[in-house]
Amino acid sequence: MQTDLPKIFCAIDTPDLNRAKDLGKILKGHVDGLKLGLEFFSSVGFDGLNEMTEIGLPLFIDLKLHDIPNTVYHTVKALCRFNPHMLTIHTQGGPAMLNAANDASLEYSHEKGIQRPLLLGVTILTSLVDQDLKAVGVENSISDQVQKLGRLALNCGFDGLVCSPHEVKALRKNLSSMYLVVPGIRPEGSAVDDQKRVMTPKEAKDAGADTLVIGRPITGAQDPAAAAQAIAQSLAEH
Ligand code: C5P
Repeated sequence: MQTDLPKIFCAIDTPDLNRAKDLGKILKGHVDGLKLGLEFFSSVGFDGLNEMTEIGLPLFIDLKLHDIPNTVYHTVKALCRFNPHMLTIHTQGGPAMLNAANDASLEYSHEKGIQRPLLLGVTILTSLVDQDLKAVGVENSISDQVQKLGRLALNCGFDGLVCSPHEVKALRKNLSSMYLVVPGIRPEGSAVDDQKRVMTPKEAKDAGADTLVIGRPITGAQDPAAAAQAIAQSLAEH
């Protein structure tokens, strides 16, 4: 795969370990990695994660951690055992929690002599609108709050952010060093499902995304490998 193109991580959103493993094996060689989230982890836990590492694809463990610093510190250390490529932490947990996550990942990687996972901050979930922020006492607009939380993550040693495709341009401009991981991607003509504001893979690439997270357009296709390849192909076209 060409390195200047955004990577494609397939979101494996299933509680069924066998289905997850089958998809992982089918997609090996056709995507750059697999994203495993709360649905998967709550169903099959650490044993399930362990089995997924055996497929040999980079893993994005997307548990969106948000707790007191000590708990996040130990959870990040526990997750580092699976040598994930990327981990997510809620930036709203504040500087002490973000620093604890950063410390845990650095300590683990130094102890083991391995590269630390990319730490990705979750800013404002794309399911929220300005009204929701007001309801929890935040007067900033979503776009201002995303910038503010993104800068906080950067200052706490984070590598990147998970963001909506529509936030990529502004983040790229203001926080240019941040690695941007982008869900909400739909190839031309595919079902939008429950995503609200989508972009095609090519549009997200042109906006400046580093990694695209794509689930159902691949996992729900009759031939998931072919669907992933078609997406990769669309990225390579000028
Ligand atoms: O199937 P689909 O392509 O919509 O999957 C997108 C994945 O990205 C899901 O695992 C979803 O939880 C995740 N995600 C998202 N929007 C965010 C953060 C994560 O869709 N803002």
